[in-house]
Amino acid sequence: MEFIKYEVEGAVGTITIDRQKALNALNSQVLDELNETLDAVDLATVRALILTGAGEKSFVAGADIAEMSTLTKAEGEAFGKKGNDVFRKLETFPIPVIATINGFALGGGCEISMSCDIRICSENAVFGQPEVGLGITPGFGGTQRLARIVGVGKAKEMIYGARNIKADEAYRIGLVNNVYPLEELMPAAKKLASIIAANAPIAVRNCKKAINDGLQVNMDQAIVIEEKLFGDCFETEDQKAGMGNFLEKDKEKKLKVVPFKNC
Ligand code: CAA
Repeated sequence: MEFIKYEVEGAVGTITIDRQKALNALNSQVLDELNETLDAVDLATVRALILTGAGEKSFVAGADIAEMSTLTKAEGEAFGKKGNDVFRKLETFPIPVIATINGFALGGGCEISMSCDIRICSENAVFGQPEVGLGITPGFGGTQRLARIVGVGKAKEMIYGARNIKADEAYRIGLVNNVYPLEELMPAAKKLASIIAANAPIAVRNCKKAINDGLQVNMDQAIVIEEKLFGDCFETEDQKAGMGNFLEKDKEKKLKVVPFKNC
């Protein structure tokens, strides 16, 4: 891999987009490598992922403008599909993904962060969908996910106006969960990922699926999705151990989750 680094520490995997000469912009190769990296994650041992950008200036400065500049209509559509397919894989990835945004998150950078479950950022982060200034629409899900996360009015204001926002505004409108000084960002991401990874893995995965799938349907259908995934947790080792420990009133054990073998 030339542009993607992947490291595993315990049950937490960290994917770093590392194309610093272009502020980690997403060209076809980066998208292909990210796709391959996701396919290679060992889901039997890794329980949470961190996604970040290399360096101290940029998370991802968007899709690669040089590559896009000569595309035909058909090629533009295909490039949008390439990005959308990888981002959808990330969004529906079985385990939680924490976007750890260390600087510019523009265009495709903002879009990839919105495909993750949780976004946290550094104080120097800048978010935006500047595409209309380049004569295009957001093409990797920005028109869809931004409105769902921050509301239609705010999304339209940002997208129509190509208006970038800083970390404090991103926090205020609910685009990020938390803002940290740059040096505290990765430790915070690792801590959050470790907390998630310490919980019962099948239950965490089922929560992700229940929330994501439930948001796509009406409430009558959504609660049926939840019932199925709730039921799916029973008879697992984690359910037996977790409830057994509680009933034994063993506070020490209560915090521990037996590693689940059937992931
Ligand atoms: N694509 C390709 N190269 C990029 C890039 C991008 N999105 N963003 C930055 N770069 C490159 C620059 O061309 C420059 O390369 P050279 O050194 O070879 O000239 C290098 O990264 C450093 O960038 P700057 O010199 O511009 O750095 P800066 O600090 O002055 O500005 C910035 C930083 C404000 C992020 C500016 O680089 C910028 O505006 N980048 C483009 C942001 C953008 O418009 N993103 C949306 C792209 S469209 C999209 O993503 C469509 C979609 O939805 C799929």
